[in-house]
Amino acid sequence: MKLVGPQLLCFLNMGNAMPEAIDLPEFEPRLTTGEPFSDAEREAVYRAIYSRRDVRGQFRPDAVADDVLLRILDPAHHAPSVGFMQPWNFLVIRDAEKMRQVAGIFARANVEAASMFPKDRQGAYRALKLEGITSAPVNICVTCDRTRGGPVVLGATHMPDMDLFSTVCAVQNLLLAARAEGLGVGWVSILKEAEVKAILGIPDPVRLVAYLCVGKVESFFATPELEQRGWRTRTPIAELVFEDHWGRKPQWPGPENHRSESFALGRRPEACVGPSRGLYALGRPLGSTDVLRAGCNSPPAVFAFRRISPRALVSSEAGSADSVQFRGRRYSPDGREHMIG
Ligand SMILES: Cc1cc2nc3c(=O)[nH]c(=O)nc-3n(C[C@H](O)[C@H](O)[C@H](O)COP(=O)(O)O)c2cc1C
Repeated sequence: MKLVGPQLLCFLNMGNAMPEAIDLPEFEPRLTTGEPFSDAEREAVYRAIYSRRDVRGQFRPDAVADDVLLRILDPAHHAPSVGFMQPWNFLVIRDAEKMRQVAGIFARANVEAASMFPKDRQGAYRALKLEGITSAPVNICVTCDRTRGGPVVLGATHMPDMDLFSTVCAVQNLLLAARAEGLGVGWVSILKEAEVKAILGIPDPVRLVAYLCVGKVESFFATPELEQRGWRTRTPIAELVFEDHWGRKPQWPGPENHRSESFALGRRPEACVGPSRGLYALGRPLGSTDVLRAGCNSPPAVFAFRRISPRALVSSEAGSADSVQFRGRRYSPDGREHMIG
């Protein structure tokens, strides 16, 4: 198909009221088809999205081969970017000494970070492992060169941070490609940017966007580790989607959470037992009754949960006497909490 370039009205002389019209050159677009992916391809995309996890403690020491590294860096480089600016660089770090120095920066920043939380949360914060810098065989520092597109960048004229957001898109592509390759990635942001830049020789107009720890893993958490460790739960998507006006709930039924959880649980029967079921139902609205099918079992195990308070669930699970144990506590259907043991 041959397209003739549309006429572009070009104000060459701002003092002249008459715009001068110029013709864009003809070009022949290269197009590909827009049909949906096959079922298997779609499932693979969603599986990468839902089963990706931030990894801190499950790295194996095995080296990551160069070709595998390239298979995660190249998709990152194919992310969208404002004005096609491609402001990113990927600084691959394999030098153990440099990693050790960055780990030192983390350790110091993390002490400061802990003190920023309310007193009653500081203990819980300190108990979390929030980096895998030296246990991962490779680190990747993803940067954004804010000068790359020149002084005026198409698309960033009125929202100047678009170059940073573009770089984050690249990071997300990297994370998903890594999951598909069976690599874990942990994002570390408890760092002083200037100190990391000094160690890595990153010049000034360049921002540090993501410091990533990368390596093969023994396993992935089925749901976010911070959730499993009781730091925070996933917000139900129904609370986050508005229509036409801030705060206005859509009239159509909100998307369900089932999909994401069954992806995380689907292939690992052992992940179908334990607190993840409870955590799943905790994300549901108060008073709602939910059925979770653990599709990895045959026939699928079905559990019904009713959420009776922000932190309590009751379960109709056979053999559990209509109660559920969660984080060391047992709840009965009327919401009462029973100490165990
Ligand atoms: C911008 C950004 C910075 C993050 N920084 C850290 C960090 O410093 N330490 C950490 O343990 N996790 C960090 N994470 C990972 C989040 O804690 C994690 O994405 C979240 O708990 C959800 O878990 P999931 O990624 O496994 O789904 C960061 C994630 C993002 C997107």
